[in-house]
Amino acid sequence: MIDRARLAALMSAEQDRFAAAHPRSAAAYGRAEHLFGRVPMTWMNKKAGGFPIYLESARGNRVRDIDGHDYVDFALGDTGAMAGHSPEPVVAAIRRRVEELGGLTTMLPTEDAEWVGAELTRRFGMDVWSFSLTATDANRWAIRLVRAITGRPKILVHSYCYHGSVDESLIVVGPDGEGTSRPGNVGSPVDVTHTSRVAEFNDVERLERQLAHGDVAAVLMEPAMTNIGIVLPDPGYLQAVREATRRHGSLLIVDETHTFSAGPGGMTRRDRLDPDVLVIGKAIAGGIPIGAYGLSGDLAARVLARTDLDLVDMGGVGGTLAGNPLSIAAARATLEHVLTDEAFTGMIDTATVFADGVERLIAEHELPWAINQLGARAEYRFATPYPRNGTEAAASADGELEDYLHLYLANRGILLTPFHNMALMCPTTSVADVQRHHEVFAQALATLPR
Ligand SMILES: Cc1ncc(COP(=O)(O)O)c(C=O)c1O
Repeated sequence: MIDRARLAALMSAEQDRFAAAHPRSAAAYGRAEHLFGRVPMTWMNKKAGGFPIYLESARGNRVRDIDGHDYVDFALGDTGAMAGHSPEPVVAAIRRRVEELGGLTTMLPTEDAEWVGAELTRRFGMDVWSFSLTATDANRWAIRLVRAITGRPKILVHSYCYHGSVDESLIVVGPDGEGTSRPGNVGSPVDVTHTSRVAEFNDVERLERQLAHGDVAAVLMEPAMTNIGIVLPDPGYLQAVREATRRHGSLLIVDETHTFSAGPGGMTRRDRLDPDVLVIGKAIAGGIPIGAYGLSGDLAARVLARTDLDLVDMGGVGGTLAGNPLSIAAARATLEHVLTDEAFTGMIDTATVFADGVERLIAEHELPWAINQLGARAEYRFATPYPRNGTEAAASADGELEDYLHLYLANRGILLTPFHNMALMCPTTSVADVQRHHEVFAQALATLPR
């Protein structure tokens, strides 16, 4: 229904506007000859404007680029900055560790770690915790533990899930209904069907059939998919997965790295989930690198009882800088003072204003799109009704349209997460910020050629 030739012309005009407004970013990108793909990390080439905006500074939900433009930031580092950029209590904790105390990496525990563990237990209910520097690593180590304990080789994930660069997770349901490597996967160690099984989200029957093979150590899942739009679980789905894993002797790893947006204890607390392992990362240290996994008391006891498993030296779980004093201090400050229970109430209310407004605008413009909200995050998708599984969600992608909307918004001071149409609220995101988004979004929709 969108006239693609006219959309391409509009896009080209937005790119010209972007280039004219960002000469310093363009020059920095042009000079970056010693970076792989010209960027510090290759995914930073996901940019609708032809080159990335270079960061000057960021505070709260505001970002300034090196060309002097200010943005209302709804990307928030794709959740890494859900606490807002450089929140004062986190800055103070970092300053204290760096300037007053010293000791950034010592291989020694700090007393803050037990405080953080206890707070994570209060929020998520898991009994004991271990730290990493990324959610990816937390997932990898969790996978090793569940394999060791069950003696089973495979991990079951949902089609088009994302859990970081975890080899086992890069599998999708192919056109024939069987598992196959996710398109574009880079350098898998073995055929992914040797390590993994896959089911569509919200399809208990298929999940149960896969589990019935008896070789699945654990289901690794987000309780709502958040990396291919926000695909919400049907009523009863999460309970059905839990029961199916128990029936088939598989464990359940819930990855709350993004679904933490649902509340202070993520979906696990909100929906009373009961996983064996819970993985989290990104937001919990206010932007300082961290990941963590929590184990049920029962699973922890079973792992610790296995004297053949080397958990202390070279056995395959651990990173030298994991649990370092800086990231633990930042996690304590974030959880104690920033991403508090009270803060979540405000963030979720603001996200509701965001989602309601976008829904109204979509309806006014008679577009066949839909928006889902998960606590403090919301995301619209170019399909209605909203897709119910990863394959449907992947099929509703529209790169041209997405790039145009992202660039139109960026040119007028609004940042969405570059990978999809996700908007996240931090404690300082205001209703006025959301209204500003709606104003620009409405203008963007009015330009769509049909
Ligand atoms: C659900 C989920 N798990 C894990 C990760 C990996 O996080 P990191 O890149 O910080 O390792 C992501 C990243 O987007 C994620 O969305």
